[in-house]
Amino acid sequence: MRSPLRRRRPGGAPVRVPRETPAVRRLARPELRGEHASKRPVLDVQSVTKVYDLGQIRVRALRGVSLQVARGEMVAIMGSSGSGKSTLMNILGCLDVPTGGRYLLDGVDVGGMDADDLADLRNRRIGFVFQSFNLVPRTSALVNVELPLAYAGLRGAPRRQRAERALRSVGMGNRMAHQPSELSGGQQQRVAVARALVTDPSLILADEPTGNLDSHSTAEVLRIFSALGEEGRTVVLITHEPDVAEQAERVIRLSDGEIVEQRRVREPEPA
Ligand SMILES: Nc1ncnc2c1ncn2[C@@H]1O[C@H](COP(=O)(O)OP(=O)(O)O)[C@@H](O)[C@H]1O
Ligand SMILES: [Mg+2]
Repeated sequence: MRSPLRRRRPGGAPVRVPRETPAVRRLARPELRGEHASKRPVLDVQSVTKVYDLGQIRVRALRGVSLQVARGEMVAIMGSSGSGKSTLMNILGCLDVPTGGRYLLDGVDVGGMDADDLADLRNRRIGFVFQSFNLVPRTSALVNVELPLAYAGLRGAPRRQRAERALRSVGMGNRMAHQPSELSGGQQQRVAVARALVTDPSLILADEPTGNLDSHSTAEVLRIFSALGEEGRTVVLITHEPDVAEQAERVIRLSDGEIVEQRRVREPEPA
């Protein structure tokens, strides 16, 4: 018999439906996380190392990275190809676990979690945005944005309303029936941002989100990200573009698996 926790995408692989576990409940309910939860950094990376063991070769992709990010802060991560940006992003996004050191997300040590807990954490707390948008083709913007809620088991009118609200919040309220091929790159990325936001995550992770956009669309997406910070959401974005990084509050530069520069661009917006 199939597990009741598994559902199928239409015609696709089984999809996990989030499960309430004590660790996940603690994260979803600030009052269960103890005092001073609001002063604690949202992301607390402590001497994290990551080694990829390829048999003969061991790649030290991260060599002791420490980094704290506050609620509502927008941080840009820069660095040349191979410097460890994606490895760090995967760890921040609970897609992978460190080899050494600790990573606390909202004060909870992610290292102690099993794969199911990590998946729940991702579904509930983190929104991902990618360079290539990753929208489902031949499917309306509205249905694309509804998907994360569908996977979480939400149905009917509430699901539709939340997706509509997310699309309106990124200025795409008048394009909800359009399919990705009927939208410009900038519009597709705004739909992807709505999809990342629809589950109400506290952390947005974006890997080169403006890499495929013209300057006008880049400015639009960055404006949305800044507004998210003002709502108390934390944004971490990887970028190669110095002018994009300058829109963040802090710029962190990685080189060969280490942070070689941390620079505050401007003071965080008062909450
Ligand atoms: N899955 C993997 N297995 C082995 N080595 C990897 C893997 N992923 C990344 N690496 C290596 O780790 C280093 C950092 O890679 P990555 O984090 O992807 O860098 P960036 O995103 O900055 O380009 C590189 O030397 C890369 O070859
Ligand atoms: Mg990368």
